[in-house]
Amino acid sequence: MKMDKKSLEEVINICIEKPLGGAAIDTKGQDMKDLIAYMKTLVTKSTKPVTKKVPKKNKGC
Ligand code: HEM
Repeated sequence: MKMDKKSLEEVINICIEKPLGGAAIDTKGQDMKDLIAYMKTLVTKSTKPVTKKVPKKNKGC
């Protein structure tokens, strides 16, 4: 099944409309900014994706 990429704001609005049965909010409004800011506070060390640091190649190698 092919799905188009959705922004975080669009996904939040889908959740508000479908499971929560509410009315979508302005994707650029203060309420949306507040919801995203709140979501960011939920990210802890254990939920952050692990990114590997690639060592720089030494000159001459
Ligand atoms: C303010 C933010 C959000 C709210 C209030 C919210 C709310 C909800 C609620 C109430 C459900 C139904 C849960 C259930 O039936 O047990 C749901 C399902 C879901 N949400 Fe959200 N959501 C939010 C953000 C997001 C985001 C950011 C994503 C993805 C990036 C997401 C992806 C999903 C998916 C995939 C489901 C379906 C899960 C399932 O069917 O098991 N939601 N959301």
